[in-house]
Amino acid sequence: MNQTFYKEIIEGLSKPQKTLSSKYFYDDAGDKIFQEIMQMEEYYLPKCELEILNQQTEKIVNSFGYDSFDIVGLGAGDGSKTKHFLKRISDLNKKVVYYPLDISADVLETNKKNITEHIPSIEMYPIAGDYFETLDRLVHDNPKIILFLGSTIGNYDNESAELFMKKIYDMMDERDILMVSFDLKKNPHKVLAAYNDANGITKRFNMNLLKRINRELNGNFDLEKFDHYPYYDPISGTTYSYIFSTIRQTVTIGDKEINFKANEMIHTEISQKYSLKTIENFKNNIGFKSVEHFLDEGKNYAISLFKK
Ligand code: AVI
Repeated sequence: MNQTFYKEIIEGLSKPQKTLSSKYFYDDAGDKIFQEIMQMEEYYLPKCELEILNQQTEKIVNSFGYDSFDIVGLGAGDGSKTKHFLKRISDLNKKVVYYPLDISADVLETNKKNITEHIPSIEMYPIAGDYFETLDRLVHDNPKIILFLGSTIGNYDNESAELFMKKIYDMMDERDILMVSFDLKKNPHKVLAAYNDANGITKRFNMNLLKRINRELNGNFDLEKFDHYPYYDPISGTTYSYIFSTIRQTVTIGDKEINFKANEMIHTEISQKYSLKTIENFKNNIGFKSVEHFLDEGKNYAISLFKK
Protein backbone atom coordinates (compact mmCIF):
# COMPACT_ATOMS: atom_id res chain seq x y z
CA MET A 1 0.00 0.00 0.00
CA ASN A 2 1.30 3.50 -0.85
CA GLN A 3 1.67 5.01 2.66
CA THR A 4 1.80 8.67 1.51
CA PHE A 5 -1.37 8.21 -0.51
CA TYR A 6 -3.09 6.51 2.46
CA LYS A 7 -1.92 9.17 4.94
CA GLU A 8 -3.02 12.10 2.75
CA ILE A 9 -6.41 10.56 1.99
CA ILE A 10 -7.16 9.86 5.66
CA GLU A 11 -5.93 13.33 6.68
CA GLY A 12 -8.09 14.99 4.02
CA LEU A 13 -11.20 13.02 4.97
CA SER A 14 -10.69 13.73 8.68
CA LYS A 15 -10.82 17.53 8.28
CA PRO A 16 -14.01 19.43 9.18
CA GLN A 17 -14.23 20.34 5.47
CA LYS A 18 -13.32 17.05 3.83
CA THR A 19 -10.84 17.24 0.94
CA LEU A 20 -9.18 14.88 -1.51
CA SER A 21 -6.30 16.18 -3.60
CA SER A 22 -6.77 16.37 -7.36
CA LYS A 23 -3.18 15.19 -7.79
CA TYR A 24 -4.53 11.68 -7.11
CA PHE A 25 -6.92 11.83 -10.10
CA TYR A 26 -4.23 10.62 -12.46
CA ASP A 27 -3.84 6.85 -12.18
CA ASP A 28 -4.03 4.86 -15.45
CA ALA A 29 -7.84 4.98 -15.48
CA GLY A 30 -7.80 8.71 -14.58
CA ASP A 31 -5.32 9.44 -17.38
CA LYS A 32 -7.64 7.72 -19.85
CA ILE A 33 -10.70 9.63 -18.64
CA PHE A 34 -8.71 12.88 -18.84
CA GLN A 35 -7.96 12.06 -22.50
CA GLU A 36 -11.74 11.76 -23.02
CA ILE A 37 -12.23 15.14 -21.31
CA MET A 38 -9.73 16.69 -23.70
CA GLN A 39 -11.90 15.53 -26.63
CA MET A 40 -15.19 16.78 -25.13
CA GLU A 41 -17.19 19.39 -26.99
CA GLU A 42 -17.66 21.40 -23.77
CA TYR A 43 -13.98 21.30 -22.74
CA TYR A 44 -12.76 24.26 -24.80
CA LEU A 45 -9.33 24.61 -23.14
CA PRO A 46 -7.10 22.40 -25.36
CA LYS A 47 -8.67 23.77 -28.55
CA CYS A 48 -7.91 27.34 -27.49
CA GLU A 49 -4.35 26.48 -26.50
CA LEU A 50 -3.68 24.71 -29.80
CA GLU A 51 -5.19 27.60 -31.74
CA ILE A 52 -2.71 30.01 -30.13
CA LEU A 53 0.28 27.68 -30.47
CA ASN A 54 -0.50 26.86 -34.10
CA GLN A 55 -1.68 30.21 -35.41
CA GLN A 56 0.65 32.53 -33.55
CA THR A 57 3.86 30.52 -33.55
CA GLU A 58 5.77 33.10 -35.53
CA LYS A 59 4.68 36.00 -33.31
CA ILE A 60 5.54 34.01 -30.17
CA VAL A 61 8.93 32.94 -31.50
CA ASN A 62 9.72 36.51 -32.62
CA SER A 63 8.97 37.62 -29.10
CA PHE A 64 11.53 35.09 -27.78
CA GLY A 65 14.06 37.09 -29.82
CA TYR A 66 16.54 34.20 -30.27
CA ASP A 67 17.58 32.07 -33.26
CA SER A 68 18.89 29.29 -31.10
CA PHE A 69 17.30 28.26 -27.80
CA ASP A 70 16.34 25.34 -25.58
CA ILE A 71 12.73 24.49 -24.81
CA VAL A 72 12.16 22.94 -21.40
CA GLY A 73 8.66 21.48 -21.01
CA LEU A 74 7.51 21.17 -17.38
CA GLY A 75 5.06 18.28 -17.03
CA ALA A 76 5.54 17.66 -20.74
CA GLY A 77 3.25 14.60 -20.85
CA ASP A 78 3.06 12.63 -24.09
CA GLY A 79 4.10 15.57 -26.29
CA SER A 80 0.91 15.52 -28.35
CA LYS A 81 0.29 19.19 -27.58
CA THR A 82 3.81 20.49 -28.12
CA LYS A 83 4.75 18.53 -31.23
CA HIS A 84 3.02 20.92 -33.65
CA PHE A 85 4.52 23.94 -31.93
CA LEU A 86 8.01 22.43 -32.08
CA LYS A 87 7.54 21.48 -35.73
CA ARG A 88 6.51 25.01 -36.62
CA ILE A 89 9.48 26.41 -34.75
CA SER A 90 11.88 24.14 -36.61
CA ASP A 91 10.16 25.11 -39.90
CA LEU A 92 11.00 28.73 -39.02
CA ASN A 93 14.65 27.66 -39.16
CA LYS A 94 15.26 28.16 -35.47
CA LYS A 95 17.71 25.87 -33.77
CA VAL A 96 15.95 24.19 -30.87
CA VAL A 97 16.91 21.56 -28.34
CA TYR A 98 13.92 20.12 -26.49
CA TYR A 99 14.02 18.93 -22.86
CA PRO A 100 10.67 17.38 -21.88
CA LEU A 101 10.51 16.94 -18.08
CA ASP A 102 7.92 14.76 -16.40
CA ILE A 103 7.54 12.63 -13.29
CA SER A 104 6.69 9.60 -15.40
CA ALA A 105 9.47 7.89 -17.41
CA ASP A 106 6.78 5.91 -19.29
CA VAL A 107 5.02 9.01 -20.52
CA LEU A 108 8.38 10.44 -21.63
CA GLU A 109 8.98 7.38 -23.82
CA THR A 110 5.71 8.07 -25.58
CA ASN A 111 6.73 11.74 -25.77
CA LYS A 112 10.00 10.88 -27.47
CA LYS A 113 8.28 8.55 -29.93
CA ASN A 114 5.59 11.12 -30.73
CA ILE A 115 7.98 14.01 -31.21
CA THR A 116 10.66 12.19 -33.20
CA GLU A 117 8.02 10.70 -35.54
CA HIS A 118 6.77 14.21 -36.19
CA ILE A 119 10.16 15.97 -36.31
CA PRO A 120 12.84 13.35 -37.10
CA SER A 121 15.64 15.91 -37.04
CA ILE A 122 14.93 17.21 -33.51
CA GLU A 123 17.56 17.03 -30.79
CA MET A 124 15.79 16.09 -27.57
CA TYR A 125 16.65 14.88 -24.07
CA PRO A 126 13.71 13.65 -21.98
CA ILE A 127 14.38 13.75 -18.23
CA ALA A 128 12.19 11.91 -15.70
CA GLY A 129 11.87 13.20 -12.14
CA ASP A 130 10.89 16.20 -10.07
CA TYR A 131 10.87 19.31 -12.33
CA PHE A 132 12.52 21.63 -9.86
CA GLU A 133 15.39 19.28 -9.16
CA THR A 134 15.89 18.77 -12.88
CA LEU A 135 15.56 22.46 -13.70
CA ASP A 136 18.14 23.27 -11.09
CA ARG A 137 20.59 20.75 -12.56
CA LEU A 138 20.22 21.84 -16.19
CA VAL A 139 23.12 23.99 -17.29
CA HIS A 140 22.59 25.64 -20.63
CA ASP A 141 24.66 27.64 -23.04
CA ASN A 142 21.47 28.58 -24.83
CA PRO A 143 18.63 30.67 -23.44
CA LYS A 144 15.83 28.50 -22.05
CA ILE A 145 12.16 28.85 -22.86
CA ILE A 146 10.38 27.14 -19.97
CA LEU A 147 6.90 25.90 -20.88
CA PHE A 148 4.16 25.29 -18.36
CA LEU A 149 1.17 24.61 -20.55
CA GLY A 150 -2.20 22.84 -20.35
CA SER A 151 -3.58 25.45 -17.94
CA THR A 152 -2.16 23.29 -15.17
CA ILE A 153 -1.37 26.43 -13.16
CA GLY A 154 -5.16 26.76 -12.69
CA ASN A 155 -5.18 23.74 -10.41
CA TYR A 156 -3.24 25.77 -7.83
CA ASP A 157 -4.79 28.53 -5.74
CA ASN A 158 -3.38 31.98 -6.56
CA GLU A 159 -0.94 31.99 -3.67
CA SER A 160 0.51 28.58 -4.58
CA ALA A 161 0.60 29.51 -8.28
CA GLU A 162 2.65 32.58 -7.44
CA LEU A 163 5.01 30.55 -5.24
CA PHE A 164 5.40 27.98 -8.00
CA MET A 165 6.27 30.66 -10.58
CA LYS A 166 8.60 32.39 -8.12
CA LYS A 167 10.50 29.14 -7.66
CA ILE A 168 10.96 28.95 -11.44
CA TYR A 169 11.91 32.64 -11.55
CA ASP A 170 14.68 31.98 -9.03
CA MET A 171 16.12 29.28 -11.32
CA MET A 172 16.02 31.42 -14.48
CA ASP A 173 18.86 33.56 -15.78
CA GLU A 174 18.19 36.93 -17.44
CA ARG A 175 17.89 35.43 -20.92
CA ASP A 176 15.32 32.79 -19.96
CA ILE A 177 11.59 33.11 -20.61
CA LEU A 178 8.70 31.48 -18.76
CA MET A 179 5.72 30.64 -20.97
CA VAL A 180 2.54 29.76 -19.07
CA SER A 181 -1.01 29.13 -20.27
CA PHE A 182 -3.98 30.56 -18.34
CA ASP A 183 -7.67 29.93 -18.89
CA LEU A 184 -9.40 33.32 -18.82
CA LYS A 185 -12.63 34.44 -17.15
CA LYS A 186 -15.50 34.26 -19.62
CA ASN A 187 -19.23 33.53 -19.91
CA PRO A 188 -19.84 31.58 -16.69
CA HIS A 189 -22.16 29.09 -18.43
CA LYS A 190 -19.33 28.12 -20.76
CA VAL A 191 -16.93 27.58 -17.86
CA LEU A 192 -19.38 25.55 -15.82
CA ALA A 193 -20.31 23.34 -18.79
CA ALA A 194 -16.62 22.42 -19.23
CA TYR A 195 -16.69 20.90 -15.72
CA ASN A 196 -20.25 19.59 -15.83
CA ASP A 197 -20.54 17.94 -19.23
CA ALA A 198 -23.79 16.42 -20.38
CA ASN A 199 -22.28 12.92 -20.79
CA GLY A 200 -20.96 12.73 -17.25
CA ILE A 201 -17.32 12.24 -18.26
CA THR A 202 -16.06 14.78 -15.70
CA LYS A 203 -18.21 13.10 -13.07
CA ARG A 204 -16.50 9.78 -13.91
CA PHE A 205 -13.12 11.56 -13.68
CA ASN A 206 -13.87 12.80 -10.16
CA MET A 207 -15.50 9.61 -8.94
CA ASN A 208 -12.55 7.57 -10.23
CA LEU A 209 -10.70 8.85 -7.18
CA LEU A 210 -13.11 6.91 -4.95
CA LYS A 211 -12.61 3.80 -7.10
CA ARG A 212 -8.86 4.26 -6.76
CA ILE A 213 -9.16 4.48 -2.97
CA ASN A 214 -11.27 1.30 -2.97
CA ARG A 215 -8.74 -0.57 -5.08
CA GLU A 216 -5.44 0.71 -3.68
CA LEU A 217 -6.32 1.46 -0.06
CA ASN A 218 -8.88 -1.23 0.57
CA GLY A 219 -11.82 1.18 0.75
CA ASN A 220 -15.51 0.42 0.37
CA PHE A 221 -16.99 3.59 -1.18
CA ASP A 222 -20.29 2.70 -2.89
CA LEU A 223 -20.18 4.99 -5.93
CA GLU A 224 -23.96 4.85 -6.21
CA LYS A 225 -24.15 6.75 -2.92
CA PHE A 226 -21.94 9.65 -3.98
CA ASP A 227 -22.41 12.29 -6.63
CA HIS A 228 -20.38 14.98 -8.39
CA TYR A 229 -21.04 18.70 -7.91
CA PRO A 230 -19.02 21.39 -9.71
CA TYR A 231 -19.72 25.08 -9.43
CA TYR A 232 -18.15 28.22 -10.81
CA ASP A 233 -17.84 31.55 -8.99
CA PRO A 234 -17.49 34.13 -11.78
CA ILE A 235 -16.38 36.84 -9.33
CA SER A 236 -13.30 35.03 -8.04
CA GLY A 237 -12.92 33.03 -11.27
CA THR A 238 -12.67 29.76 -9.35
CA THR A 239 -14.33 26.52 -10.44
CA TYR A 240 -14.75 24.20 -7.48
CA SER A 241 -15.30 20.47 -7.87
CA TYR A 242 -16.89 18.45 -5.14
CA ILE A 243 -18.02 14.91 -4.52
CA PHE A 244 -20.87 14.62 -2.02
CA SER A 245 -22.41 11.83 -0.04
CA THR A 246 -26.07 11.48 -1.03
CA ILE A 247 -26.97 9.83 2.30
CA ARG A 248 -25.67 9.58 5.86
CA GLN A 249 -23.21 6.69 5.79
CA THR A 250 -19.94 5.24 7.08
CA VAL A 251 -17.16 4.22 4.71
CA THR A 252 -14.11 2.19 5.70
CA ILE A 253 -10.64 2.67 4.24
CA GLY A 254 -8.30 -0.03 5.55
CA ASP A 255 -9.13 -0.07 9.26
CA LYS A 256 -10.30 3.58 9.40
CA GLU A 257 -13.97 4.53 9.51
CA ILE A 258 -15.08 7.79 7.89
CA ASN A 259 -18.54 9.14 8.67
CA PHE A 260 -20.52 11.19 6.18
CA LYS A 261 -23.62 13.25 6.85
CA ALA A 262 -26.24 13.37 4.12
CA ASN A 263 -25.09 15.88 1.48
CA GLU A 264 -21.69 16.33 3.06
CA MET A 265 -19.20 17.70 0.52
CA ILE A 266 -15.66 16.53 -0.25
CA HIS A 267 -13.67 19.21 -2.05
CA THR A 268 -11.54 17.67 -4.83
CA GLU A 269 -10.23 20.34 -7.19
CA ILE A 270 -10.08 23.98 -8.14
CA SER A 271 -9.66 25.19 -11.71
CA GLN A 272 -8.87 28.89 -11.64
CA LYS A 273 -9.92 31.28 -14.43
CA TYR A 274 -7.94 34.51 -14.69
CA SER A 275 -8.21 38.12 -15.74
CA LEU A 276 -5.19 39.64 -17.51
CA LYS A 277 -4.91 41.88 -14.46
CA THR A 278 -4.34 38.87 -12.17
CA ILE A 279 -1.65 37.57 -14.53
CA GLU A 280 0.00 40.98 -14.46
CA ASN A 281 -0.15 40.96 -10.68
CA PHE A 282 1.83 37.69 -10.76
CA LYS A 283 4.42 39.40 -12.93
CA ASN A 284 4.70 42.37 -10.53
CA ASN A 285 4.67 40.35 -7.31
CA ILE A 286 7.28 37.89 -8.54
CA GLY A 287 9.48 40.58 -10.06
CA PHE A 288 9.43 39.73 -13.77
CA LYS A 289 10.39 42.67 -15.96
CA SER A 290 7.64 42.12 -18.52
CA VAL A 291 4.76 39.91 -19.53
CA GLU A 292 3.24 39.59 -22.98
CA HIS A 293 -0.04 37.80 -23.68
CA PHE A 294 -1.10 35.82 -26.76
CA LEU A 295 -4.87 35.20 -26.84
CA ASP A 296 -7.05 32.99 -29.03
CA GLU A 297 -9.53 34.74 -31.27
CA GLY A 298 -12.43 34.23 -28.84
CA LYS A 299 -10.31 35.69 -25.99
CA ASN A 300 -10.96 32.60 -23.92
CA TYR A 301 -7.38 31.68 -23.15
CA ALA A 302 -3.95 33.28 -22.81
CA ILE A 303 -0.42 32.10 -23.28
CA SER A 304 1.77 34.58 -21.40
CA LEU A 305 5.52 35.10 -21.78
CA PHE A 306 7.26 36.31 -18.63
CA LYS A 307 10.71 37.85 -19.06
CA LYS A 308 13.16 38.41 -16.24
C1 AVI B 1 -5.41 19.48 -15.78
N1 AVI B 1 -6.33 20.59 -15.50
C2 AVI B 1 -5.87 21.81 -16.18
C3 AVI B 1 -7.74 20.30 -15.77
C4 AVI B 1 -8.62 21.54 -15.45
O1 AVI B 1 -9.28 22.02 -16.35
O2 AVI B 1 -8.57 22.02 -14.32
C5 AVI B 1 -8.24 19.10 -14.97
C6 AVI B 1 -9.71 18.86 -15.14
N2 AVI B 1 -10.57 18.71 -14.16
C7 AVI B 1 -11.78 18.53 -14.63
N3 AVI B 1 -11.73 18.61 -15.95
C8 AVI B 1 -10.43 18.80 -16.29
